[in-house]
Amino acid sequence: MHTYLVTGGAGFIGSNYIHYMFKKYGDDIRIINVDKLTYAGNLENLKDIENRPNYSFVRADICDKDAISAVFAKEDIDRVVHFAAESHVDRSIESPEVFVQTNVLGTAVMLNCAKAAWELPDGTFKPDHKFLHVSTDEVYGSLEEDGGYFYETTPYAPHSPYSASKASSDMLVKAYMDTYKFPANITNCSNNYGPFQFPEKLIPLIINNALQGKKLPVYGDGKNVRDWLYVEDHAKAIDMVQEKGRLFETYNIGGHNEKQNIQIIHIILDTLREMLPESDPRRANVTDDLITYVTDRKGHDRRYAIAPDKIKAEIGWEPETMFEQGIRKTIQWFFENEEWMKNVTSGDYEKYYDSMYSNR
Ligand code: NAD
Ligand code: TYD
Repeated sequence: MHTYLVTGGAGFIGSNYIHYMFKKYGDDIRIINVDKLTYAGNLENLKDIENRPNYSFVRADICDKDAISAVFAKEDIDRVVHFAAESHVDRSIESPEVFVQTNVLGTAVMLNCAKAAWELPDGTFKPDHKFLHVSTDEVYGSLEEDGGYFYETTPYAPHSPYSASKASSDMLVKAYMDTYKFPANITNCSNNYGPFQFPEKLIPLIINNALQGKKLPVYGDGKNVRDWLYVEDHAKAIDMVQEKGRLFETYNIGGHNEKQNIQIIHIILDTLREMLPESDPRRANVTDDLITYVTDRKGHDRRYAIAPDKIKAEIGWEPETMFEQGIRKTIQWFFENEEWMKNVTSGDYEKYYDSMYSNR
């Protein structure tokens, strides 16, 4: 039986991953979720599994090496899946330091604690112990509009403080693999969407604003391209890489689903109109007039696109959820979880939203 230490399991992708893993393995695994519960971490995301005897939660900062080594000392962990990070580009432009702190220093602490717990006296590591570092395609920089893809061999060229901090954390993982033969993998994934995504990110923000008849802010000309992947497909890929991937390798994970931001917004509006019954008062709010072009993001990367050839050839993973189906599932989830949205958008989020969008 594997015992997982999952960092950032109360966030968007981490909580979807934990759900996926219990759905797949049931009682055959244990998961210890370590999360600091920043604004982005929410235990409501895990309320249906919180009483499982094979799940536990530890509130800790990944930068706190005493707290992290205590988890390794208490539990016989043989799998680490490291999601915890500051993850929003706009916030990184406003406050870069916390991104360096959590994403770089926090990853160094995670690596060091795992190394200390797993290293044998001869400098090798306990057999079948593995660390997976969850990263982003944004480390590769920006692609031209008219072609090209990110491959595992594409040189790193991050632009935002967020992607620079993720690139730095990837480099630390690579350094541990090269220097100590530390048993790890890195995955670099494209933009995710799905249930439990915090509404500062494009897709949940547009769904939430449209339902309330609030403006839909489009940065720049709206033609920046992202490659969208349904979050459960990402969770599956992470598990497959950890169990079937070659150790020390990087795998790119992508949706084969490139879309301009403005296309995404039109798809969401059309799907909302299709899914909301005539009798629902929110239907009248959902109009194209809400689309509002605002000042562009500083240093806005033009296009991201992943070629997931390696993960398909070596591991057999492919994206399964078509965008049209994934966006319906996501919207349906938001319809059924209005309370969740209300809770996360009250208080601090409201302040963030006002300060971020008031002078755009
Ligand atoms: P998220 O912001 O929704 O969640 C991050 C989680 O980490 C939260 O639960 C938060 O409380 C926790 N956390 C933050 N700082 C911490 C700290 N110092 N100590 C302990 N916990 C801390 O992020 P997400 O979208 O779920 O992303 C998860 C990971 O996946 C990140 O590493 C991100 O870089 C990567 N990623 C995200 C995307 C995407 O589209 N969202 C795409 C590719 C890769
Ligand atoms: P985001 O969801 O923040 O993800 P990332 O920056 O990591 O790709 O943004 C996705 C795209 O949507 C990006 O090109 C910026 C754009 N965007 C808007 O046009 N308006 C918004 O309000 C937000 C949050 C993003």
